[in-house]
Amino acid sequence: MELRLAAFICFFLRAALVAASIATRLTSLGLSDVPEAVLSSGVLENPVVFGYTFESGIDPNLIPWSSLTHLVLAFFNVDAAGTVAPSSGNPGALVGTAHKNGVKAIASIGGSGSGSTAMAMALATNATRDALVASLVDNVKTYALDGVDFDYEFPENTQQVLSLYGALNSTRSALDAAFGRGAKTLTMTLFSSKGQFGPNVPPMNAKPFSDIVDYGLLMSYDYFGSFSAISAPNSPFYDIPGYPGLSFTSSIAAWLSSGWDAKKLVAGLPYYGRTATVQAPSSPVGDQQFMPNSGAAPPGGPVSKIAGAWTWTDLRDPIDGALRSPTVAQQGWQRYWDTTTETPWLLHNTSLTYIGYDDVDSLAIKANYIITSGLVGVMVWMVQYDYADELNTVVGNYTMTCERIVKELESSQSSSESKIDSSSSGNHSSKHNSSDSSSDEHSSRGNGAVTKYGNLLLSLLYMAVLAFW
Ligand SMILES: *[C@@H]1O[C@H](CO)[C@@H](O)[C@H](O)[C@H]1NC(C)=O
Ligand SMILES: *[C@@H]1O[C@H](CO)[C@@H](O)[C@H](O)[C@H]1NC(C)=O
Ligand SMILES: *[C@@H]1O[C@H](CO)[C@@H](O)[C@H](O)[C@H]1NC(C)=O
Ligand SMILES: *[C@@H]1O[C@H](CO)[C@@H](O)[C@H](O)[C@H]1NC(C)=O
Ligand SMILES: *[C@@H]1O[C@H](CO)[C@@H](O)[C@H](O)[C@H]1NC(C)=O
Ligand SMILES: *[C@@H]1O[C@H](CO)[C@@H](O)[C@H](O)[C@H]1NC(C)=O
Repeated sequence: MELRLAAFICFFLRAALVAASIATRLTSLGLSDVPEAVLSSGVLENPVVFGYTFESGIDPNLIPWSSLTHLVLAFFNVDAAGTVAPSSGNPGALVGTAHKNGVKAIASIGGSGSGSTAMAMALATNATRDALVASLVDNVKTYALDGVDFDYEFPENTQQVLSLYGALNSTRSALDAAFGRGAKTLTMTLFSSKGQFGPNVPPMNAKPFSDIVDYGLLMSYDYFGSFSAISAPNSPFYDIPGYPGLSFTSSIAAWLSSGWDAKKLVAGLPYYGRTATVQAPSSPVGDQQFMPNSGAAPPGGPVSKIAGAWTWTDLRDPIDGALRSPTVAQQGWQRYWDTTTETPWLLHNTSLTYIGYDDVDSLAIKANYIITSGLVGVMVWMVQYDYADELNTVVGNYTMTCERIVKELESSQSSSESKIDSSSSGNHSSKHNSSDSSSDEHSSRGNGAVTKYGNLLLSLLYMAVLAFW
C-alpha cells in the first residue's frame, strides 16, 4: 500500500516537474500566463482566423490571404421564400483566389438590416426553412464554397431562436449528406452581450448550438457607440463602471458559462471604432473618456463614410484621418489611452467628435486573451478596413504565437521523454503504444504535441509504478 502511495506521489512530482519546465520555456517567450488546462486541451494546435469581407466589389489585393484560414463573404442575399443568391452575380473569382491561397471561402447570410429581416421570414415556416437549407447547399455546390455562416441579427424571441436551431441542424445534415460528414464548415455569429442570442432574448443553454456548428463567431464589439448615453469604446476589454457585462472579456465568459465549447469559440477583433459627439469634454480635457453624448448625428469616416463608425482606413487616412501614425494624432485631434478598457480614444478639439477604437496594442491584448482563455481563434470585421497591413500584424502574431507554444510543448515533451527512456532499463515501447491508442478518442482535432503530452503523463505513471513495485 505504501509503495503504491509513493508511486502516485512520484507520478505527480514528475508531472509537476514537466509542467514547470514548460512554464519556464513559455516565460522566456512572454507566454507564462497560458494555463495548463489550455496547453493540454489541444486547442492551440489548430487556431483559426476568420476574416469577413464584402461578397462583391472587393479588391482581392486588400485581403491578407496569408493570415487567414477562412474568408467569410458578407452577404449572400436571402429572401422570405428561402432563396439564397450571391449579391454580385458571381463570387467565383474571389473563391478561386481564396483556394489558390489555401483559404476556405464561406457564404454568410443575414447581417444587420434587411438580410436578417428576410432570413427571419424564411425561418418562420418549415417549408421556407427547408427551401433555405436546400438553396444554401445549391450555392455551396455552384460556387465551390467551403461552408455557410448564419449571421442572424437578431432573434427576437425564444421561438425564433429555436427556428434558427432547426435551420442550423438541417443545414448540418444537408451539408454532410451532400459533401461528406464534416467536409463543409458551418458557423454562426454570436451576439456580444451576456450569452444571449439577441438583445431581447433571455440567456439559454448554448450547448446544443455549439454541438452542431463548427464555430461560433462572437461579435465582441458594438458595445457602445452613438446609440449610448455616454462616449465609450466600441470594444472595451473590461467592463466600464456602471455597465456590467458589456465588454470583450465579459462576453467570452458569458458564452462559455452558457455552455458554448471554448474549442468552437472564435472572438471578434474590430478593425473600426465608433463615434459620438459629446456635450463637453471632461475637465481637465482627456481626464476620462466617458462623457455625456449630445445625441447629434454621429460623424462617419472620411473614406468609408459609414454613419457612426471610423474604420482603421479612415483613422489613418493621410489627408482627412485622425492619426498621422498608429499612435500619434493629427492636428485638431487628441489621442488618449484608457487603462480600464485597454483601448485608445480620440477627441476632436472643435467638433467634439469622440472615437473609441482599437489599434495594434488593444488588439494584441485581446488576441493574447483569446490564447490564454483557450479559445480556438480570432475573427476580423472587416479585413479590408486595415491600412498598410498595420492591424493585420496582430493576427499574424496570434497564429505564430500559437505555433510557438505548440513547438515549445513538443520540445519539452521530447526532451523529458528521451531523458526517461535513457534512464530506464526496461523495454517500454509496448506501453507507449498502448497509451497512444487509448488517446485516439480525445484527439479528434489533430494529433500533435498537446495530446501526446497527456500520453507522456500516462507513461510516467506506468514507469513510476513499475519502478516502485
Ligand atoms: C416543423 O418542424 C418542426 C421541427 O423540425 C417539427 O417539430 C414540426 O412538426 C414541423 N411542423 C410541420 C407542420 O411539419
Ligand atoms: C436534427 O437533424 C436530425 C437529422 O436530420 C434530425 O433527426 C433531428 O430531428 C433534428 N433535430 C431537431 C431538433 O430539429
Ligand atoms: C484645435 O487644434 C488646431 C490644430 O492643432 C488648432 O489650430 C486650434 O487652435 C485648436 N482649437 C482649439 C479651440 O483649441
Ligand atoms: C505578439 O505576441 C506576443 C505573445 O502573445 C505578445 O506578447 C505581443 O504583445 C504581441 N505583439 C503584437 C504586435 O501583437
Ligand atoms: C522491445 O519491444 C519491441 C516491441 O514491443 C520489440 O520489437 C523489441 O525487440 C524489444 N526490445 C528489447 C530490447 O527487448
Ligand atoms: C507500435 O506502434 C508502431 C507505430 O505506430 C506500430 O508500427 C507497431 O506495430 C506498434 N507495436 C505494437 C506492439 O503495438
